Amino acid sequence: MMMKLISLLLINLVLMNVAVLGVYSSNYFSRDDFPPAFVFGSGTSAYQVEGAASEDGRTPSIWDTYAHAGSAHGATGDVACDEYHKYKEDVQLMVDTGLDAYRFSISWSRLIPNGRGPVNPKGLQYYNNLINELVSHGIQPHVTLHNYDLPQALEDEYGGWVSREIVIDFTFYAEVCFREFGDRVFYWSTVNEPNVYVLGGYDQGFTPPQRCSPPFGVFSCSKGNSSSEPYTAAHNILLAHASAARLYMTKYKDKQHGFIGLSIYVWWLVPLTDTKEDAIATQRAIDFQVGWFLDPLVFGDYPTIMKQNVGSRLPAFTNLESKLVKGSFDFIGIIHYNNMYVRDRSNSLKREYRDYNLDAAIEIIQIQGNSSAFEFPIAPWGLRGVLEYFKQVYGNPPIYIYENGQRMKRNSTLDDISRVKYMHGYIGGVLDALRNGSNTRGYFAWAFMDVFELLDGFGSSYGLYYVDLDDPDLRRYPKQSAKWYSQFLKGESISLDGVIELEKNLSTPSHAYLQ
Ligand SMILES: *[C@@H]1O[C@H](CO)[C@@H](O)[C@H](O)[C@H]1NC(C)=O
Ligand SMILES: *[C@@H]1O[C@H](CO)[C@@H](O)[C@H](O)[C@H]1NC(C)=O
Ligand SMILES: *[C@@H]1O[C@H](CO)[C@@H](O)[C@H](O)[C@H]1NC(C)=O
Ligand SMILES: *[C@@H]1O[C@H](CO)[C@@H](O)[C@H](O)[C@H]1NC(C)=O
Ligand SMILES: *[C@@H]1O[C@H](CO)[C@@H](O)[C@H](O)[C@H]1NC(C)=O
Repeated sequence: MMMKLISLLLINLVLMNVAVLGVYSSNYFSRDDFPPAFVFGSGTSAYQVEGAASEDGRTPSIWDTYAHAGSAHGATGDVACDEYHKYKEDVQLMVDTGLDAYRFSISWSRLIPNGRGPVNPKGLQYYNNLINELVSHGIQPHVTLHNYDLPQALEDEYGGWVSREIVIDFTFYAEVCFREFGDRVFYWSTVNEPNVYVLGGYDQGFTPPQRCSPPFGVFSCSKGNSSSEPYTAAHNILLAHASAARLYMTKYKDKQHGFIGLSIYVWWLVPLTDTKEDAIATQRAIDFQVGWFLDPLVFGDYPTIMKQNVGSRLPAFTNLESKLVKGSFDFIGIIHYNNMYVRDRSNSLKREYRDYNLDAAIEIIQIQGNSSAFEFPIAPWGLRGVLEYFKQVYGNPPIYIYENGQRMKRNSTLDDISRVKYMHGYIGGVLDALRNGSNTRGYFAWAFMDVFELLDGFGSSYGLYYVDLDDPDLRRYPKQSAKWYSQFLKGESISLDGVIELEKNLSTPSHAYLQ
């Protein structure tokens, strides 16, 4: 989804020969190998696909502001894929593809312009229409409430997520959604990948709302404090999540029978060398990345190493808050694309002014395959590692893999064989994890179509469907990955042999590149 962010965090780039083909027990599998209730879907998010940014009463979010400041290479989501007007066509494509479920997000400032106060009837109508269209075609909606798009009005009024006031406004917004849509929506995620959101937005300052302070940050931000705000914002996100989840659990769950959780961005992390220091640093990196959110949710408090390294800049939970946060989820969403090396940087703890990276005292180094650096290495052992870790450390909670997919240059080709290989490898990896006891309940390919991406606008693509931006109708075209996923979803047995044969067939001169 926003992988370039990751490369900005990198200090080093190391070329390694990582096995390109994943290690999974069977090359051959089919959908029948998965439990009958296992859900296969695909996803997008509001600002990335809807367009109609100033139509029917929607007001700007912090993402609109960010894009209009030119931060996504000058591209904006003003039109995006125009799903606001084309949702019926898109739901039909989902039906044709054979999806069980569609993950999308609600634009808070479309539903409640300015973040609080009256509900916008046109916004309500749009989401009712989309949800009804999905449900009437047997596609399960999985809804995220916040995906980088806080109403700008709340950012302006009190600083958005750095203020405790957000807890009340977020809970109110969530309740509108439960009340209006909860009879048809059974899967709710409060906040999408808060661990990346707070680092991009409050430490390095290159994602909305672009807050940071010198000497940190990749841009000069007009506001912020990189030493403290990532921790404050994360704390308020946890409290707002817990508040909304508790409300759902006490007031709606009994009659609506749904489930609530949040999603976390997870790299699988491995030590760069076999030194003891790098091994310890890797556990520290996992605690800072995953434990930051999962420890409070599962155990009621931040990891000890975070409390130790961050000190008073890390907010403390009161007993009541700890009880509220602990156990406030039915499932965890995992967003996983690739694996990284970790190198110990314990010296950074001697610095007087520190941000998250210095507090974590680590260096993250990209593991690169031998395909182009733009594409992710196909290394599903990392996803297996993540699922195994959640099983062993966090008591095997129900998991939805909410994002996983291959990044490619946008519209280079419809023959996205590398994406097909990636999906084959990772879905096979999920099957292996299930066979070893993982409680994973679903897999969602990112993304259903080529969307407006956070950092590089329309420069990269993850979609199963290509969207022709030069066509006033924004026509959608299936890539090989859409066809492959569809075959798999419709029960065909798949193997890498088939993919390799397809690749051979395609490497004849009749290449189907777009004009
Ligand atoms: C950031 O916050 C910390 C902790 O509250 C404080 O000590 C520091 O002076 C602040 N830095 C800036 C640049 O405001
Ligand atoms: C990647 O590198 C390894 C080792 O050099 C080589 O055997 C393999 O064929 C390469 N794979 C690709 C896809 O280039
Ligand atoms: C995509 O292809 C069209 C031609 O079909 C071209 O005009 C456009 O610039 C391409 N976009 C990108 C991002 O490469
Ligand atoms: C399978 O699960 C067992 C028990 O949790 C664990 O010890 C083992 O490492 C797992 N195997 C793999 C390959 O993850
Ligand atoms: C590859 O081409 C051969 C010969 O035209 C055809 O029989 C086969 O089905 C093709 N394989 C795939 C995977 O498209």
